[in-house]
Amino acid sequence: MQVLSPLTTELNEQISEFVPSAYRLLSELGKRVYLPKGILSQSAEANEKASRFNATRAVAYEDNRIMHLDVCRQLVPELSPDSIFSYPPILGNPELRKLWQTHIRTENPLLADSPLSLPIVTCGMTHGFNLLADMFVDIGDKLILPDKTWGNYRHIFQTKAGTDIQTYPFFDSDKQFNIQAFNKTLSQNVTDKLLILLNFPHNPTGYAITRDEAQHILNAIVECAENGCHILVMVDDAYTGFWYDSEVMQESIFGMLVDCHSNVVPVKIDGATKEEYAWGLRVGFLTFGYAEEIMHGIEGKISGLIRANTSGTTQVSQTLILEAMQSKDYAKQKQRNYETLKARALKVKEVATDRRYADLWEVYPSHAGYFTCLSLKSRNAETVRQILLNEHGIGIIALSETELRVAYSCLDATNIEVVFREIAQVVRSQL
Ligand SMILES: Cc1ncc(COP(=O)(O)O)c(C=O)c1O
Repeated sequence: MQVLSPLTTELNEQISEFVPSAYRLLSELGKRVYLPKGILSQSAEANEKASRFNATRAVAYEDNRIMHLDVCRQLVPELSPDSIFSYPPILGNPELRKLWQTHIRTENPLLADSPLSLPIVTCGMTHGFNLLADMFVDIGDKLILPDKTWGNYRHIFQTKAGTDIQTYPFFDSDKQFNIQAFNKTLSQNVTDKLLILLNFPHNPTGYAITRDEAQHILNAIVECAENGCHILVMVDDAYTGFWYDSEVMQESIFGMLVDCHSNVVPVKIDGATKEEYAWGLRVGFLTFGYAEEIMHGIEGKISGLIRANTSGTTQVSQTLILEAMQSKDYAKQKQRNYETLKARALKVKEVATDRRYADLWEVYPSHAGYFTCLSLKSRNAETVRQILLNEHGIGIIALSETELRVAYSCLDATNIEVVFREIAQVVRSQL
């Protein structure tokens, strides 16, 4: 058996003292992991004290400047070489972390005075989910997911981490969020430890919840916690901000979960990926519903996990997001993109729900995000997808035997009519 390092014991004691529910939820790996005091900490010490020569770091310097290739640097001439080429801190650029925390508070009025950790920078949101899986999931732990989800959750939490996924039908018979099924699934799984993953605006349907629905979800979680369950609630806010319907809640349910019950550990997973139109920069964030001052233990463990896999997120990506968010044109450019996507969403709603297509499909409610989903009245989604692709040059996703997902985020508003007309033509030809 591996002997625990004194550093691990110290982190475990801190988590257990300040965030006992998070301690109860730690996986075996989560209990073991820590950030070794190796080169990183000796370098950090030398950065402060080595006033003559600092020969600790595994980087190259010339005349006190980080060495680099000009052919690379010339591609981003306005950024300093350090902000492109140097290693970033393990948990991310401190300025970006602070700025993202402010961004979260601004976008979520419910969080105005709530405890909030400094966001931890991850290498895209997928990395954030993997860190949570490492930190909190043991084989056989139960994860509550709806039947319609982003496929990568299963990949990360079931295939890789070995959770026992308990699903509930996302929609009820009125095509509203199925609060009864959610409630029932929770009450059937009251164990010492539970994982829940929520995602609104929702991939794949584009569904967003109302404040009332959010309250029902919260009540169900609190009731489960009251019954003695320790719950990690992961809130995937990938599509936050892309709300096109004034009836739905325009902020994250995460704000309601913070401080809702001492057994509930809320964590928000979001990122520059969709919000800042920066999919390939791979900048995501993990933010816990705890004050910065009590995060030392959790941050220490996540530092250890990051050190063991990506060892940090790309410096230049973090710099680009930081500089962009501080730029004077930032808000204006975001608004412009939002308006473009909103116009597409409204056009899709009008076209997809046209009476001409009523015998072919039902359109799931979609108020936000990037997608709309069609539930075909015949069982041939994959055939339709293949014909559309091979004979019409149109790519969409077949989610199941009967469901198609259209990412209208990729379609100019002027092409939406044509795309749905051709989908209809193919579906009809298959009847
Ligand atoms: C719901 C949801 N969460 C997370 C992500 C992934 O984010 P990232 O590309 O930052 O890993 C996606 C990407 O499509 C998504 O749809």
